[in-house]
Amino acid sequence: MKKIRIGMLGLGTVGSGVVRIVEGHQEDLQRQTGAELVLSKIAVRDINKSRKVTVDPALLTEDPWEVINDPEIDVIVEVMGGVEQTKEYILAALDKGKQVITANKDLIALHGPEILAKAAEKRCDIMYEASVAGGIPILRTLVEGFSSDRITKIVGIVNGTTNYILTKMTQEGASYEDVLVEAQRLGYAEQDPTSDVEGFDAAYKMIILGSLGFHVHLSLNDLDIRGISKVTSDDIASAKRLGYTIKLLGIAERQDDLISISVQPTMVKDSHPLASVNGVFNAIYVYGQAVGETMFYGPGAGDMPTATSVVADLVAVTRNLLTGINGSRSSMIMNEKKLKSDEQ
Ligand code: NAP
Ligand code: HSE
Repeated sequence: MKKIRIGMLGLGTVGSGVVRIVEGHQEDLQRQTGAELVLSKIAVRDINKSRKVTVDPALLTEDPWEVINDPEIDVIVEVMGGVEQTKEYILAALDKGKQVITANKDLIALHGPEILAKAAEKRCDIMYEASVAGGIPILRTLVEGFSSDRITKIVGIVNGTTNYILTKMTQEGASYEDVLVEAQRLGYAEQDPTSDVEGFDAAYKMIILGSLGFHVHLSLNDLDIRGISKVTSDDIASAKRLGYTIKLLGIAERQDDLISISVQPTMVKDSHPLASVNGVFNAIYVYGQAVGETMFYGPGAGDMPTATSVVADLVAVTRNLLTGINGSRSSMIMNEKKLKSDEQ
């Protein structure tokens, strides 16, 4: 059986989940792909750190270039985070003709067009399903499931950490600071949780959703962003008395050629399904001109849900490798066209 060799960058929350699924579901993965998925090398910051999963210590290195430059490796799975240095690794991997999978929404939102252009030039896959809404396969759904429709609006709870915090504050009267620490311990929060609580993580996800849904290239400048750090227990209690729940919502809308995107704490009527999306769960409404209203719901962060999406990309990349059609998923490529407002 053909072996597909995987090089990983990172073995933290998501990386550990990837190892567990690749090892635990190996037989099913082989049946689906016709290939054996082999973890060949893993870059970490500290090879002596104790880990959530047991891996052969010989696989570990503290030098990501050892993974990128290994000629045996077919696929790079980037689950270490970071932007500028990580972009260098990914561009170098694509230059070497390797397929790339990433869970890094910051990177894709900020440098997606450049990375996707390199992948197209090298006829390589770049897949990033795990970058938005953890275990909900929303990007494939947007790109493939809605390809026949004209999407008019995408609204959702796309950050697990803030939804976890708001839920605990609302239901248990817990303090913002305590719940944030808990979200970090559970592996939901980013390395720098400012990105979660100030709305940037949700903004990056809305950039990816909006770019894929509306076929334009969006950037942070196009967004209005407010996080939850200034939401107080009093705000939550007042909303509750009026029959509302406060949620951090991402809203992307297009009318004709005008697109508006925002991330902000929003009062959601208690009777609306989004008010009942609790804890680390995410939910995304997609409105299409033809289909009308659809809703997608599931865990938005955490090791195993996120790893499910990473390994689903791994299956897709492996199938492409065996049939020699890598880089042909132009449907996953963000359009370079700028917003009308940018051109004026
Ligand atoms: P994490 O737990 O902090 O893990 C990061 C891993 O990368 C660690 O193993 C770390 O090594 C390694 N690493 C970091 N910098 C490195 C460097 N310069 N060289 C070599 N190794 C390095 O992070 P995570 O939560 O798994 O998140 C990883 C990525 O997935 C991020 O882009 C994040 O936004 C994204 N993501 C996370 C989730 C989630 O629920 N956590 C969900 C969706 C997407 P050490 O272990 O030695 O420190
Ligand atoms: N920090 C992110 C969140 C991880 O809480 O949603 C999943 O992308």
